Amino acid sequence: MIKLAMQWKTFTSSVTLICILFFSLLSKAYGTILSDDCDACHGIFPGMMEEAPPGEPLKYALQNLLCVNCHSSSNKESIKFLGGVKVPVVNNTIRPASPLAGGNFYYLSKGMGDRKGHNVDGIAPLDSKFLSNPPGYDRESDPSAKGYNFEKPLTCAGSNGCHGNRNIENPFSAIKGTHHADDSPIDGSTTAKSYRYLKNTEKIKGVLGFEDPDWGQNSSAKKHNEYSPSMNNLCANCHGNYYREDKTGKMSPWFRHPTGIVIPKTGEYTNYNPGVAPPSNKPNTRIYSPDAPVARDPLPSSPLETIELGTDMVFCLSCHMAHASPYDSLLRWDYDTIESGESGGGCLICHTGKAE
Ligand code: HEC
Ligand code: HEC
Ligand code: HEC
Ligand code: HEC
Ligand code: HEC
Repeated sequence: MIKLAMQWKTFTSSVTLICILFFSLLSKAYGTILSDDCDACHGIFPGMMEEAPPGEPLKYALQNLLCVNCHSSSNKESIKFLGGVKVPVVNNTIRPASPLAGGNFYYLSKGMGDRKGHNVDGIAPLDSKFLSNPPGYDRESDPSAKGYNFEKPLTCAGSNGCHGNRNIENPFSAIKGTHHADDSPIDGSTTAKSYRYLKNTEKIKGVLGFEDPDWGQNSSAKKHNEYSPSMNNLCANCHGNYYREDKTGKMSPWFRHPTGIVIPKTGEYTNYNPGVAPPSNKPNTRIYSPDAPVARDPLPSSPLETIELGTDMVFCLSCHMAHASPYDSLLRWDYDTIESGESGGGCLICHTGKAE
């Protein structure tokens, strides 16, 4: 009996040890692709590792389409698995059950109209209103050497894209090496170490943020990404006139909203996220709403459940999604119903006085 119990004890403790080892390995590897099943990805997309003879451009098969295909899914799940590795899905061909933080290109590709999102090549044809021209593009606000090419479509990455190095035209070359690189800490020093691979070029510090391990899927007040105001600069790379203070005055039809502005601890703002009771003992503190996120400086190292009035800021993604949403102008909410006050969400999460 005693012998058996001893054996059982050794057995359970070695299982515990193995588990600890396994999880510490996992946590070290978190954020980078770690899998022995190279073929799971490189087999279906064989063009990814192709090198070209010196002096010739890299010949990645399918180019931008490679990003789109791997980050798409034909079912409603917005996280899929390849070789045991989690792949964030940003383009479902049926309505996604729970879109990731950037939204989902489903709304754009399903014929609901160009205004629902960024018309990325391989997902949707050119935007009929803007063609491939970013509204409010200002060359001075775009620090990339190449600049945006109005003759070419918008792509996931590369000089006409948001992710990767914008000094490199080819979307795949612009991101090469990033998926397998160590991505912590997120300090903006390399593409991999920038929030969601968002770093204009080598010389520009990348976007900072706290990356939710599920890319914001099923986010709540307690579990969500954390944003830095550096996200505004990323958007301003292509929409500079929507950010520069000298150009954000009143303009028709939309007088541009202040961005990068601290949410005041006075007036209607003291009631931010009115639907949820704040902690009673903390003045100027309200519960975070993932439907109207804020940017913070300094950034917390894990998601905070509260927002601090007088410190936290309104930023581009307080109102917009990055990829696509069910609403025009990639907004988080239906602008028309918010304006008429029918819904308690949207603008009214901050502008609580306008709800009456
Ligand atoms: C979950 C998908 C996935 C798996 C599994 C995977 N890779 Fe990759 N790999 C990628 C993607 C995506 C790229 C291209 C983008 C990039 O370089 O960031 C890539 C690029 C590469 C590159 C060229 C860029 C670089 O980092 O040098 C090499 C080499 C590579 N993979 C080797 C491997 C090997 C070896 C394995 C198996 C041990 C493997 N990969 C498993 C997705 C995967
Ligand atoms: C690499 C350039 C680039 C960057 C960076 C970029 N955009 Fe855009 N954006 C475009 C282009 C091109 C269009 C016009 C084509 C389209 O709408 O698809 C556009 C259109 C838009 C529109 C209007 C969409 C419509 O159809 O009504 C909004 C809103 C927008 N962008 C917001 C953002 C926000 C917010 C960010 C930062 C998270 C951002 N953009 C970053 C290139 C960019
Ligand atoms: C073979 C599949 C595959 C291809 C092709 C691929 N990716 Fe990925 N991508 C992945 C996987 C897997 C992850 C998750 C890696 C991780 O957990 O860090 C990922 C993560 C990302 C992320 C999120 C990074 C983060 O911080 O969480 C971005 C952005 C991204 N990919 C962009 C791209 C772009 C742009 C391209 C094309 C140039 C591309 N991917 C091509 C599989 C792929
Ligand atoms: C407080 C909410 C809010 C913030 C913050 C905000 N926007 Fe917008 N934005 C809107 C609304 C609402 C519209 C649609 C206006 C309309 O249709 O008249 C819009 C429209 C746009 C458009 C499309 C313009 C067009 O001609 O259709 C672009 C591009 C854009 N925003 C970029 C940005 C960028 C970049 C930032 C950050 C620097 C930003 N926005 C911050 C609410 C916001
Ligand atoms: C994340 C919080 C937040 C959200 C969401 C938000 N706002 Fe604001 N809004 C602010 C802040 C902060 C100010 C600036 C207040 C100040 O400086 O006194 C502001 C100012 C304004 C102003 C005054 C503009 C000016 O030039 O002074 C208008 C109008 C406005 N917002 C409309 C909207 C509309 C419409 C929406 C929805 C599309 C919206 N806001 C969503 C926080 C927000």
